[in-house]
Amino acid sequence: MTETSNPVAFTPERLEKVKEIIDRYPAGRQKSALLPVLHIAQEQWGWVSSEVMDYVAGLLDILPVEVYEVATFYTMYHLDAVGKHVIEYCRTGPCCLMGGEDIYDYLKEKLGINAGETTPDGLFTLKEVECLAACGWGPVFQIREKFYMNLTREKVDQIIEELSK
Ligand code: FES
Repeated sequence: MTETSNPVAFTPERLEKVKEIIDRYPAGRQKSALLPVLHIAQEQWGWVSSEVMDYVAGLLDILPVEVYEVATFYTMYHLDAVGKHVIEYCRTGPCCLMGGEDIYDYLKEKLGINAGETTPDGLFTLKEVECLAACGWGPVFQIREKFYMNLTREKVDQIIEELSK
């Protein structure tokens, strides 16, 4: 969601924060600020388009491809428009052994979407991710900073109902 009249410019508050982060690093090392700056970009626009990545490259005085290679490596950056809640579902072995595949099928059926898709009401986007480092509590998915663990069909029902309000 764009919060400025210029579709590719940080709000003044965010730009100030970005400059403060860049200033933490020695001259010529501003690329070190890339990950947090991309997080701020995603916070503003909801996802990071190629235009946004080009803008970030300009701010950090690096090549656009240097931004693309980082943004496309980490699954926490969304490269397409997403819904209000992005469900990042763990598809790695330990969660699968705990019934993760059954819960995943149930979740997809409940939402009526597959990985990479968004529900027609724009509420949920489903993403498949690798281990979320909560293997002892699988099956697991994450929405923003919050983890949902020891998932069952009943828990999925409750979570989706709560987030749909
Ligand atoms: Fe799912 Fe590690 S395998 S959190």
